[in-house]
Amino acid sequence: MSKAPQKHKGDPETTGHSWDGIEEFNNPLPRWWVWVFYACIVWAIGYSIAYPAWPGVKSATAGLLGWSTRANVQKEIDAVAEANAAINERLVSAELTEIAADPELNSYAVSAGSAVFKTWCAQCHGSGAAGAKGYPNLLDDDWLWGGNIEDIHATISHGVRNEDDGDARYSQMPAFGRDELLAGDEIDQVVNYVMSLSGTPQDAAQVEAGAVVFADNCAACHMDDGTGDRTQGAPNLTDAIWLYGGDFDTLKETVTNSRFGVMPAWGLRLSEDQIRAAAIYVHQLGGGE
Ligand code: HEC
Ligand code: HEC
Repeated sequence: MSKAPQKHKGDPETTGHSWDGIEEFNNPLPRWWVWVFYACIVWAIGYSIAYPAWPGVKSATAGLLGWSTRANVQKEIDAVAEANAAINERLVSAELTEIAADPELNSYAVSAGSAVFKTWCAQCHGSGAAGAKGYPNLLDDDWLWGGNIEDIHATISHGVRNEDDGDARYSQMPAFGRDELLAGDEIDQVVNYVMSLSGTPQDAAQVEAGAVVFADNCAACHMDDGTGDRTQGAPNLTDAIWLYGGDFDTLKETVTNSRFGVMPAWGLRLSEDQIRAAAIYVHQLGGGE
């Protein structure tokens, strides 16, 4: 039970509430505090009239000042597009092969292309373009479909093995194991032979038998000497640069089930100046021909 505390003369008035003997003073709020509080209310009313504030079903109230961060960003984007319109126009109308010789145009294309690459290409080819399993390295001079600027431009525009662009680069390696075109031991032999092409030590008897299997089944696309065929996107098998992998098990998987690497047709998604910029960027990464 609480006992009412002793009152002294001159003590401030209390609210009359008492908890365990602790009482609440009934002092007025400080003046400055009250005025700040009123100022906040006035400011909030003014703000919600001037700026977007109250949420509605589809959008918020617009506010008298018409402020919109979205419109501001759009304005900035439009300004950049307008500033670049002239040089983009030059990029699109120039001969592809002549862009590299024009220093101003080339350096614009490389930096614009690098931005396009980071946005649209890096997910598959890596931010440094070094590729990953199934996604080719674009830094080296080993090209599946060709490494001059026109080849690169065509590959990017139409993509590879996609169903959206009739001009997409297309080819299909047969699934020699799954479709029973080769027996299991023939696959082992030809895999040994493929490994021997890039100098990895092999079982000699298997390599010899594999050479025959290769000539009969593989040379039409990968060529007699295994150096590949760019018109069919058939990789060079002699250079120890592997798209999917060069160890026995991975090669066996490739020959058994084949692969089907797909790249989107960027011409359906990006503008011609963006595609050209990306092509110039890729071409100058080091492997361009
Ligand atoms: C969804 C994944 C994906 C994205 C995104 C992608 N690519 Fe590819 N790209 C591939 C694959 C897979 C191949 C190899 C296809 C094959 O096996 O022939 C390829 C091949 C290429 C080639 C041909 C390489 C050669 O050796 O001939 C170029 C050039 C290329 N890509 C550039 C680009 C550019 C530029 C972009 C961005 C605009 C891009 N790629 C975005 C998956 C992708
Ligand atoms: C119709 C043409 C064609 C024939 C025939 C063919 N290939 Fe291929 N091969 C390709 C293509 C195209 C690719 C690339 C597939 C991809 O990227 O999706 C490829 C990829 C490969 C790879 C992957 C290379 C890497 O870098 O990872 C190997 C290994 C390979 N082929 C071996 C063979 C062998 C062995 C045979 C014969 C038993 C053969 N190919 C027959 C077209 C062919």
